[in-house]
Amino acid sequence: MSSPLLTEATRIARDFDYPAAEVQRGVAEYIRQSNEGLAKENTTLSQIPTFVTAVPNGTEKGLYLAVDLGGTNFRVCSVQLHGDTTFSLTQSKIMIPRELMASGTSKDLFTFLARQIEAFLRIHHNEHFEAHQRRRRDGNEEEDLFDLGFTFSFPVRQHGINSGTLIRWTKGFNIPDAVGHDVCALLQSAIDDLDLPVRVAALVNDTVGTLMARSYTSPGETGTLLGAIFGTGTNGAYVEKLENISKLQSMKDAHYDTHTGEMIINAEWGSFDNQLGVLPCTVYDRDLDADSNNPGIQMFEKRVSGMFLGEILRRALLDLHNNASVGLFKSSTTSKVSVPSDSLFYRQWGLDTSLLSIVEADTTKEMKDIKVALKDHLNIENASDEDCQAVKILTHAIGKRAARLSAVPLAAILIHTGKLNTDDIVDVGVDGSVVEYYPNFEGHLRDALREVPEVGPAGEKKVRIGISKDGSGVGAALIALVASKDETMHAPSKK
Ligand code: BGC
Repeated sequence: MSSPLLTEATRIARDFDYPAAEVQRGVAEYIRQSNEGLAKENTTLSQIPTFVTAVPNGTEKGLYLAVDLGGTNFRVCSVQLHGDTTFSLTQSKIMIPRELMASGTSKDLFTFLARQIEAFLRIHHNEHFEAHQRRRRDGNEEEDLFDLGFTFSFPVRQHGINSGTLIRWTKGFNIPDAVGHDVCALLQSAIDDLDLPVRVAALVNDTVGTLMARSYTSPGETGTLLGAIFGTGTNGAYVEKLENISKLQSMKDAHYDTHTGEMIINAEWGSFDNQLGVLPCTVYDRDLDADSNNPGIQMFEKRVSGMFLGEILRRALLDLHNNASVGLFKSSTTSKVSVPSDSLFYRQWGLDTSLLSIVEADTTKEMKDIKVALKDHLNIENASDEDCQAVKILTHAIGKRAARLSAVPLAAILIHTGKLNTDDIVDVGVDGSVVEYYPNFEGHLRDALREVPEVGPAGEKKVRIGISKDGSGVGAALIALVASKDETMHAPSKK
């Protein structure tokens, strides 16, 4: 017979069920909100036009710089595109100091970024850097600047390929004075203050970079339809017909190339259904949101992405811990569990989502990896087998719901774009720690895709999902290339 602890864990886990009928309701609503976002501004699903109107075909060449701001690390890289679908990438990565993410000014943050670019250039491209400084000293007006693609993975209203104003911060960032400002101009001005030989040529969301990179490297003739991130945050970018983006007409001063008839849209699906019309909502989702620094927004992201899954689990486990009649992580006559009072278990955001991947991956009877991870991550010692079992039950439920929810935008975009109506493969590039490391994330996502009648088993089989590693670096380089050379790329569908 099941113990009170496991019975209660199973009861809570059921609250995370996301059955086929709910997936279908989610897809229908996603299609509705996405059409609304294409027609007007200030909708829950932003559907941001990116002004990227072509995707690469693997023949592009050149040396570009790319930087990536969007999570815990700032990356600087230079990318050599070889023109034969391959590339070489040199990169450096640095953790962003917490105080710059949430309490400083935009000037502090962008100066920090420019300094990292300077350090990178001195190490990896010193000759170029010194030649530039010499020319400046000698009063030589000639410029030989690196074109830089700026991957900035937050919602931005783009005005053109290299300008855009920040709509809001996500993923724990919060520097109010940057909101409403052009982030390319902020970076360029910090770069110019240090006199670096760099021109910010393109502004790129990480999902757009992922789509571009996948398209550059993906095998075969099929163009990539969608780039998606399931990491610290979640979002997707896809290829849309220009004629469907009716809000473009009201964007004065917007100029872009129309000859492909298509444009990449950054959906910002982290904010799908902020009004909670169709998204599932447990008490843990509700409390997590209320205690977050952006209540009421990024509601889809708060159920799907790495920044939040650990916190959902922590809150559910804490409930079991505080419930005297079930006593998770409580010592008994047979076990001496200890949870120190300063354990991250008691701290908001204290449970890292990587713990979920470890728990889900441990299918052994002894659950040794789970015990080690509880000790390493939360300083919880001597957890009993039953404790670990309860952690497993909840982890599985939360991870599976996230994966099934992830099928909603994917199915909706497949249906909306009509891409399943031919015999072709539909290529999807993905990146991010959740899709990469959470065991069977793709499997659960595919199960849910098949349950959508307009996709079904036949449609699901046509979908090829591939990890697009380093997508944001290579993708940003590719867009910097478009921006600097224009007209070098082919129509998105490659047909
Ligand atoms: C941001 C998106 C980004 C996604 C993945 C979200 O929080 O709003 O712009 O693409 O995270 O990094």
